[in-house]
Amino acid sequence: MTVEVLNHPLINILMTNLRSQETSSSEFRLTAKKISSLMAYEIFKDLKIERNKINTPLESYLGIKAQNPKPCVISILRAGLIISEGITDIFDEVSIGHIGMYRDEKTLSPVNYLIKLPSNLQNRQCFLCDPMLATGGSAISSIETLKKNNALDITLVSLLASDEGIRNVKKEFSDVKIICAQKDKHLNKKGFIVPGLGDAGDRIFDT
Ligand code: PRP
Repeated sequence: MTVEVLNHPLINILMTNLRSQETSSSEFRLTAKKISSLMAYEIFKDLKIERNKINTPLESYLGIKAQNPKPCVISILRAGLIISEGITDIFDEVSIGHIGMYRDEKTLSPVNYLIKLPSNLQNRQCFLCDPMLATGGSAISSIETLKKNNALDITLVSLLASDEGIRNVKKEFSDVKIICAQKDKHLNKKGFIVPGLGDAGDRIFDT
């Protein structure tokens, strides 16, 4: 399993703004989207492509285009929506899926309330988006859902991941790749990443 922590200066400047408690909800949305757009460069570096012969105004040119079926970007609701928006601002030849889940307060297990996925997942590159990989519970449950729907090529895309979350996903799925902007070492007793950035969903949607 490959884990890629981008740690690029442009991304790190934006992540610093994202983490700051001074950042308003609208700035948080804009910044999270920008980081996701920058991450698209890395996310699609192994995009499946095919030849595409076109004519320039001067002569013919052998270029490329994305292969069919197109990759799919799947958001874990709610917060994953912002990553999907940032990615599709840069490259929108993708199909889009959604997995909605909440955590049962008694059992702490994730419960799905919505699963809407593109067809033919087995032949697509699948990019599962969630800003936070904390304990890894949401990611693991969503990866199980994707695998039940025959997905074979899965990359988890996060803005911020914890060492524990990465370890837990790795333990369950050795074949899943992880790309994150940054990584923090600790989780607090409530399962929040520290120093982290707070609750991404609440900050994005101002709830
Ligand atoms: C947050 C976050 C992840 C999850 C990470 O979602 O966006 O989905 O927690 O935690 P985990 O790795 O321990 O599962 P939240 O439950 O706050 O839902 P929201 O996106 O609707 O705000």
